[in-house]
Amino acid sequence: MNGIHNVEDVNKIPVLVHDLTVAYHHKPVLWDVDFEVEEGQIVGIIGPNGAGKSTLIKAILELVSKTSGRVLIYGEPYRKQRSLVGYVPQRESVDWDFPVNALDVVLMGLYGKIGWCRPVTKNYKDLAMVAMERVGMADYAKRQISQLSGGQQQRIFLARALVQDAKIYFMDEPFVGVDAATEKAIVTILHDLKSKGKTVLIVHHTLQTVKQYFDSLIMLNMRIVATGLTSEVFTQKNLHKTYGGRLTLLEEAVQAYTREGRIDE
Ligand SMILES: Nc1ncnc2c1ncn2[C@@H]1O[C@H](COP(=O)(O)OP(=O)(O)OP(=O)(O)O)[C@@H](O)[C@H]1O
Ligand SMILES: [Mg+2]
Repeated sequence: MNGIHNVEDVNKIPVLVHDLTVAYHHKPVLWDVDFEVEEGQIVGIIGPNGAGKSTLIKAILELVSKTSGRVLIYGEPYRKQRSLVGYVPQRESVDWDFPVNALDVVLMGLYGKIGWCRPVTKNYKDLAMVAMERVGMADYAKRQISQLSGGQQQRIFLARALVQDAKIYFMDEPFVGVDAATEKAIVTILHDLKSKGKTVLIVHHTLQTVKQYFDSLIMLNMRIVATGLTSEVFTQKNLHKTYGGRLTLLEEAVQAYTREGRIDE
């Protein structure tokens, strides 16, 4: 962000993050993070374990407090724009002992519309079932969430986000631990969301699929290393800067992709 936006421009930007610093127990994990995202793009957030990717999403969604900085969702603070934002959390971060079935979890995506403690009408249940159908989970509606496999749980969380009909989606590693069919189903959904002009930010680890999946990238390691179109910023130099401390992983990745001619020199 260059600080020269006027109000009208800012209102058109799905996500604008300015000078964001976040610390846990006084130790910063995000430092002076600045970026903005264009509407209708699928944006990858990549970086090594502990880089602050999940924290970045949580700070945007006001789930952790900011030490400093500012986040605007279509020109307004998140708390005013909640209904525009869908979130698929990183799977390990969820307490699955909660005694709810899959349909209940998907219906949570509609609470913004229904209102807490109000009866859930058939109409809403139908909407939830359509979303479950879309992720291939309609047959599991009554199953306890803890009794689903990891990939199935992931699909349910995706359905919960979809049913909300948001304008911006944040997904924290939706492809982790899912089989090839689920990965394909998620990619189809992403294309569908994009074709409807939605903006999707996705934390992602598999470097092989970065070019294929993402229009633009946020390369993060506590600070922003690079941000911009994938075709411009997904370079060896930036990968080195991002993954510098994890050379083995990086070398393997770089070797694999340069062999396939996927990474720009
Ligand atoms: N609740 C917390 N309290 C203290 N430190 C935390 C907390 N959550 C995360 N951290 C630390 O903050 C840093 C960033 O964590 P974060 O979960 O954002 O990383 P990440 O990039 O999502 O990593 P991964 O790829 O492993 O999911 C890490 O060093 C982590 O140990
Ligand atoms: Mg994470």
